Amino acid sequence: MENIRELLINKALLAREKAYAPYSKFKVGASLLTSDNKIFTGFNIENASYSLCMCGERNAIYNAYLNGYNKDSIKSICIVADTDGVVSPCGACRQVMSELLNKDTEVILCNINKKTETYKVGDLLPFSFSGDDMKNV
Ligand code: THU
Repeated sequence: MENIRELLINKALLAREKAYAPYSKFKVGASLLTSDNKIFTGFNIENASYSLCMCGERNAIYNAYLNGYNKDSIKSICIVADTDGVVSPCGACRQVMSELLNKDTEVILCNINKKTETYKVGDLLPFSFSGDDMKNV
């Protein structure tokens, strides 16, 4: 039986296949595990008005939040794309992960050959901007 990590990777790979990426052709899938062992997925959704494109990992996080989960009830996220090494999440997604996930939440970066590297949210965006930075306003 596949373990939960393998399951997360497979769900992200399946989600990736559904990506709507007619412009870049670069498909990204993501899956997210909650503390009650539910899995939410996301994929990138592009638009002819390019700035409206949304990344796969952000869609997975928003999917979990829309279903009532938050940073304290999310255990890990897995992101997969067709890259030589593991996929590197974009800066915008690192910023969103840093606010909507806990700093020690596991981030499994993966490619379609199931090469993986695991980081913590805090490793991916050190010295991040947060709501605390605006406390003097
Ligand atoms: N993309 C993601 O989904 N996640 C990332 O972290 C990097 C980029 C998407 C956005 C766009 O649809 C395509 O990949 C090319 O940038």
